[in-house]
Amino acid sequence: MPQQVKVTIIGSGYVGLVAAACFAELGHQVCCVDKDTQKIDGLRAGQIPIHEASLPELLNRHRGTNLTFTHDIREATREADVIFVAVGTPQSSSGSADLSYIDAVASEIARSVSGYKVIVEKSTVPVFTSDWIGRVLMRNGVPRSGFDVASNPEFLREGTAVNDFLVPDRIVVGGDSERAIEWLRRLYEPLTSGEYYSRPNALFSAQHRIKHAPPLLITSTKAAELIKHASNAFLAMKISFINNVANVCEAAGADVDEVAAGMGLDARIGSRFLTPGIGYGGSCFPKDVAAFRYVSEQLGVNFDLLREVEAVNQKQQENFVRKVASALWTLRGKRIGVLGLAFKGGTDDIRDSPAISIVQSLLQKGCEITAFDPAASERARQMLPPASNMRYAADAYAAAENADALMILTDWDVFASLDLGRLRRLLHHPIILDGRNLFDPDVMAAACFDYLSVGRPPVYAATAESAYASGPHRAADKQSPIGEMVAPLVLQSGPSSR
Ligand code: UDX
Repeated sequence: MPQQVKVTIIGSGYVGLVAAACFAELGHQVCCVDKDTQKIDGLRAGQIPIHEASLPELLNRHRGTNLTFTHDIREATREADVIFVAVGTPQSSSGSADLSYIDAVASEIARSVSGYKVIVEKSTVPVFTSDWIGRVLMRNGVPRSGFDVASNPEFLREGTAVNDFLVPDRIVVGGDSERAIEWLRRLYEPLTSGEYYSRPNALFSAQHRIKHAPPLLITSTKAAELIKHASNAFLAMKISFINNVANVCEAAGADVDEVAAGMGLDARIGSRFLTPGIGYGGSCFPKDVAAFRYVSEQLGVNFDLLREVEAVNQKQQENFVRKVASALWTLRGKRIGVLGLAFKGGTDDIRDSPAISIVQSLLQKGCEITAFDPAASERARQMLPPASNMRYAADAYAAAENADALMILTDWDVFASLDLGRLRRLLHHPIILDGRNLFDPDVMAAACFDYLSVGRPPVYAATAESAYASGPHRAADKQSPIGEMVAPLVLQSGPSSR
């Protein structure tokens, strides 16, 4: 059994809580700290504040044994070998990362620790942050020999964070002392040696046949900080790129799915993160693109490329609102069903969600919105100001009932398997605007929808009827409520691969 490390995680948000649960899963002794006493009490009682696959299972496995929770940072840091800082680094108005929480935690750590500690940046921070953490510790009386600061950026995607932690593409450790690096090697040894995956109760041994253990990349602290920002900025750029390619396809009458497939077969491009949509959102990409651009400019390096990435992303949302207007002619008073409020499927997070931005825009234009999201509705209800023209439905079909159009804004798998015949009977008009390309246009044509998606030729009920009438899927000429023929059997289609 690999050597157990005593780990403290400061911050119990998306990153901190997942890291705490996963380090405990690896066999380490973990203490998770948060100044939010209500949150800590809830975690001790078994409450799970975030929507993450496998997280409840891990927390239930280790809570109270090798995973404890406290709001007392002094108690938590006294015995720790390694202290992770996983507090928020929100975007400030200038675009820079607000590091005040990191600064405050570094001061608290300084007042609490005794004996050598490794302080590790887990939060996404700009380059040079580790230098500043070191200054704060020494200014608060910690001798230089009493600590090292390292960087261990996370690459967790919301919704798959536990999987991304335990089956990572790589583990990046930035450290400027062998002593600190050795502690982090020990911490990750169950993964880098592959030992974890051979455990009988390993979370992913069965489902994910692990071909090879993840590589451990040792770098300087600065390089590790830059790897995180550069990786997220590159991924955001790839999304803005494919979104603009989708816009070109629409103008040219081509199909972006075909273009993306051809691009993705080039091993240098790769097929992932080539799914067009309504733009990227979430608590990371928008913030990290702005922070990386800001810190680059502070260093005297022009990174206007990232300004364009941001501009394309914003315009993609505006394009989609225009598409709704093109389908409905006028918007005021129109009833619109909305499927999806989270920034992506698999999460309840609505931070910087393009779906929320689009809904807000349509509300302002006087639309009557009825929205459903499998996980994010409650958060949206709390965030959005109460509005007479905003309602929340119990399920997707209720959102579609009597709507003039249905919009798909979040790529929840469940939306891709909805009964199209039932949707068509519920809708006042058979119009679907799919911001996530969840459906196959041919299937939508056969189901006699007006179907508008991203980067693909539009499908209209009229042409669908002619296609339907002459197509192989002609079925009983059952009259639909609006006098058109409705295909009784509709093939279920899964979400487009990402
Ligand atoms: C991202 C990074 O992937 C992760 O490595 C980092 O640690 C945190 O930020 P996350 O924000 O959770 O993770 O979600 P991700 O799956 O990356 O999607 C980000 C946004 O891009 C979402 O709005 C998603 O819908 C969108 N997206 C993603 C696309 O529009 N097209 C794609 O092909 C992929």
